[in-house]
Amino acid sequence: MLNICMSKIKQEVDPTSILSLYLSHDAAATYIDKNDKIKVLEYERFVKQRYGAFTHTMSNREGLGTTDDQRRDFLQYIKDNVKGDIKTILTNDTNLHDGPIIKEYFPNVKFKSVSHHDAHAASGIYTSGLEDATLLSFDGGGYDDGSNVCFTRTYLYRDNKIQRLNDYGYSLGIPYGHLAKCIKEIKAGPDCDNHSLVYSGKIMGLCGYGNIREEWIQPMVNYYENSQTQGNSLSILGKEINLTLELNSIEGQDAYDLAATSQHVFEQSAFVIINDLIKSGLPLNVVLVGGCALNVLFNQRMARTLKEAGGTLFVPPYPNDCGLALGQFLLYTKIKKKLSPYMGFDILDRDKFNDYKKEYKAIKCSVSKLVDHIKDGKIIGVLQGESEIGPRALGNRSIICDPSIKDMKDILNSKVKFREWYRPFAPVCRLEDSDIYFDDVFESDFMSYAPEVKEKYRDVLPSITHIDGTARLQTVSKDGHKLFYNILKELKERNEIPVILNTSFNIKGAPILTTIEDALYVLDNTEMDYVYVEGFIFKKKS
Ligand SMILES: [Fe+2]
Repeated sequence: MLNICMSKIKQEVDPTSILSLYLSHDAAATYIDKNDKIKVLEYERFVKQRYGAFTHTMSNREGLGTTDDQRRDFLQYIKDNVKGDIKTILTNDTNLHDGPIIKEYFPNVKFKSVSHHDAHAASGIYTSGLEDATLLSFDGGGYDDGSNVCFTRTYLYRDNKIQRLNDYGYSLGIPYGHLAKCIKEIKAGPDCDNHSLVYSGKIMGLCGYGNIREEWIQPMVNYYENSQTQGNSLSILGKEINLTLELNSIEGQDAYDLAATSQHVFEQSAFVIINDLIKSGLPLNVVLVGGCALNVLFNQRMARTLKEAGGTLFVPPYPNDCGLALGQFLLYTKIKKKLSPYMGFDILDRDKFNDYKKEYKAIKCSVSKLVDHIKDGKIIGVLQGESEIGPRALGNRSIICDPSIKDMKDILNSKVKFREWYRPFAPVCRLEDSDIYFDDVFESDFMSYAPEVKEKYRDVLPSITHIDGTARLQTVSKDGHKLFYNILKELKERNEIPVILNTSFNIKGAPILTTIEDALYVLDNTEMDYVYVEGFIFKKKS
């Protein structure tokens, strides 16, 4: 009897002995820290470089490569903060290109590689709370075993097992983002980049200005289906719709219609995949993962369709590659639990908090006083606790202001954010109030959906209402984000509209920040009015 028990114990994985590293762009590390918390540390936040790649094999790719010094600093930080004796390192790289530098810090480890889409799947299903589900993982592509690239894959989750279903020979993410190359408004944007990871979000913002052109649909379908096999698929699409599709070659209505038609084909393609599975008897509970699950317009439609059929949709806050270190970790340790998105870096210069308070003569600030500032039209940077993981700022690294103030979008853009004119800002509302201001609301702690703003509030809330009437809503509950919840409660008690604007807190062109120093840099170098750090308000030094 004892022997049987001992062998069972031996087979169980000790999570504190596991370090998961995703090394490509959107690199991250996951481990159990000294406080027994699961951590997800996004490398980009540490090196202050958007989408920063850890692996030295990407060092030649502009905007993504990082240095050996940065890699060593990150590994040292992990080594200082892990709880246990690390024996196994999970990675996405079977060739272990970065093995030598990792072994400098963890010399006695064994490496194990994990499939890209399997890790995406685990990041979603294991944190969803669902007992059974149909999963779609769709992105720009990722490796299974170092050689086989998979773009789109479906899974069934049942009886605690994740089972692969179908692989599809085309990507929905690459053709979607690739169109941006020829759209002048995107390439010419003030924070444009040379690499393509920023493009999809910009196209999604732009397509609200366009119309679906019926005659472009079939050529667009061909473009999506052929984008993996034909290197010149963009120029073929151009010939078929009588447009020259080259670098920065189109703008205005043609560009917006191209974006809208692409969004339509993207949505229809994903719908076909999911509908076919559901018709074959698979669960109506659906989990979306992969970078394409950041497409809030599609997510909204999918959630509505599933609800009408009696099902549900779950999208984690980190569906893109920044959630892969966590996915690898969960897949290997078999940990299944609903997780807060606030698992990232703590404020990295917390030890200097008191010094900064003195230097800036920071004073205590109640929620009521914070609401006074919001209603005075002030723009406030908020920095508190551990960072939310994923690309959306969800209240711990956010800039907030009053969306009911006329021209707030332009004021915010001219003073602080410098964003393209066509990109909308997101609203936050308590879940219990959200039906008053928005139609078809799904609980959205992670900003995963885009419900429509009710007709009568579109003029009242112009800075969060996109041109197509939608808004990328974050709903909050008391347990989800206490500060936001209390701000919104106070607004409601004052008979004000209980909706605030929330956008990511970052230095221009850099990832979401995570130091007081950077927060105060934004305060001092833009027209931001205040920075709020854990109950204290900072004004500009002057
Ligand atoms: Fe991916």
